[in-house]
Amino acid sequence: MLKFIDTCMKKDNYLVLLLAGDGNRLRKDIDEKKQFHLILNKPLFLYPLISFIKSNAFKKYLLVISKSDEELVKKNLQDNRIDTKDIIFIYGGKTRNESVKNAISYLTDKANDDDKIFIHDSARAIISIKTIYKLVDAINKNDFITSAFPIYDSIILKDKLEYINRDNCYRVSTPQAFSLDVIKKCYEKYDDKATDDYSKAIKLEGNYKTDIVNIPSISFKVTTIDDLIMLESIIKNNKEYQI
Ligand code: CTP
Ligand code: MG
Repeated sequence: MLKFIDTCMKKDNYLVLLLAGDGNRLRKDIDEKKQFHLILNKPLFLYPLISFIKSNAFKKYLLVISKSDEELVKKNLQDNRIDTKDIIFIYGGKTRNESVKNAISYLTDKANDDDKIFIHDSARAIISIKTIYKLVDAINKNDFITSAFPIYDSIILKDKLEYINRDNCYRVSTPQAFSLDVIKKCYEKYDDKATDDYSKAIKLEGNYKTDIVNIPSISFKVTTIDDLIMLESIIKNNKEYQI
C-alpha cells in the first residue's frame, strides 16, 4: 500500500484540463458554455479540477481556456480560493485537437520526455481520486493509456445487421495519459481532427506498451441537456461528489 501511495505521489505528472470548447450542442438549452454552468453554485469545470488537485499527484495544472474566458476563469478560481501557484493558463484553439496541441507545445521545453501528461475533458465533471490513482498507476506501467467505460447494452452494426461481442467493446473516455515523448510524436505525425488523443497514439509505430483502463461511467461527458440534468441530480444527491 505504501509503495502504491508512493507511486501516486510521484510528481512527474502534468494535467491538461480542456475548457476551451464552445459547448454548442448545449447552447440551444443554456445560455452559457457548459464548463461554466453552475452546479450547486460552483462552475462545472471546478469539479474535475478540484479532484485532480486533491489527488496531490500532479506537478502543474494546465488550464486550456479561451482568451475571452480568461477573466471569468480567474475570478472563479479566486472566488473558490483555489491556489493558482501551480496553475498555468494556455489559450485553446478552434478545435479540441488545436487546444491539446497548444498545451503540448508549452510542455515541450518545460517537462521531461518521460514525464506523464494527463489530458482530461472538463465536461467530464466527476472523476474520483480513486480513479485518478488507478490511472496514475496504469501510466507508470505503460507508455500511454486511456480510460474507458464497459458496455452493458447489446451492440449492433446497423449496416450489417450484425451483433458484436460487447465484452470486447468499450466507450472511450478521458482522462487519457501519455509520456511526453509519445504525445509529442502523436502531434508531430497526426495533426488530424480526431476527437481524442489515444486514437493518435495507437497509430504510432514502435514497441509501445498501452492499456485500456476501466473506469466508472459516472465520468460521462456532459453534451446534452439530459446529461446536465443527470449530472446535477447525481451531485445534489451525493455528498462525496460535492466540492
Ligand atoms: N475543447 C477545447 N477546445 C476546443 C473544443 C473543445 O478545449 N476547441 C474541450 C471542451 O471544453 C470539452 C472537451 O474539449 O471539455 C470535449 O469537447 P466537447 O464535449 O465536444 O465540448 P465542446 O466542443 O465545448 O461542445 P460542442 O462540441 O457541443 O460544441
Ligand atoms: Mg466539441
